Amino acid sequence: MIRLKSKADIEKMRASGSILKRVFETVAPMMRPGVSTATIDRVAHDLIVEAGAIPSCLGYESGGPTPFPTATCISVDDEIVHGFPSETKVLEEGMIVSLDVCACLDGFHTDAARTYIIGNVDPRVRELVEVTEQAFFEGLKEVRAGKRLGDVGAAVQTLCEAHGFGVVRELSGHGVGYELHEDPDVPNYGRRGRGLRIRPGMTFALEPMVTLGSRHINVADNGWTILTADGLPAAHYENTLAITEDGVDILTL
Ligand code: MF3
Ligand code: CO
Repeated sequence: MIRLKSKADIEKMRASGSILKRVFETVAPMMRPGVSTATIDRVAHDLIVEAGAIPSCLGYESGGPTPFPTATCISVDDEIVHGFPSETKVLEEGMIVSLDVCACLDGFHTDAARTYIIGNVDPRVRELVEVTEQAFFEGLKEVRAGKRLGDVGAAVQTLCEAHGFGVVRELSGHGVGYELHEDPDVPNYGRRGRGLRIRPGMTFALEPMVTLGSRHINVADNGWTILTADGLPAAHYENTLAITEDGVDILTL
């Protein structure tokens, strides 16, 4: 069931999303060799809590066998999403690292992710990160009342595949707001003119997950972390969107 949001609800989500913006601004300069992913998680956690919000990922129950252990998901190289931050996972030159963070303020969740490049990376990996972000914006062009989710997915998929990259199918964007994950699913692939019709008051996360090689996935032994099946890198970029009568608001950028 899709639960539409009022203008007042969307303003609350904007406030929630502004906390995520602050997290990205703060951690961007920390994305360098020698910094552990646990350190990044701690900084994000503390910013969210100091802003009076709840880190929605911490203790989240649906998606893995046990509650999610940390405030953020930090996924390095072949980890696509839902990586566990760790003291022993230390950033190194040549890595790519995605930070996925969610906050709940005043009852409203928002969700966003960025992928960072550590130092010099392989040009093809840099292209992967850039195209993943561009794919979000290609999809965004299709996000407006009256269009369909197939238009959005097709736009994301077309750009990624034109670069020879894979688009993950098993995971999608999703409605967000009253819950961290609500209806509808927002796939990163699809066919124009198909799928659910977009309506004012919908709020959802659009989040391309893009692989350098094969689009196929494995689940790590921790039951949460999604890995590329071929061990090649993957990138992720996500924002929470609100559909209005005359356009779309990006609540986390
Ligand atoms: N952005 C992630 C997602 O939509 C957030 C997951 S919360 C977690 O899957 F608890 F699973 F980490
Ligand atoms: Co999400």
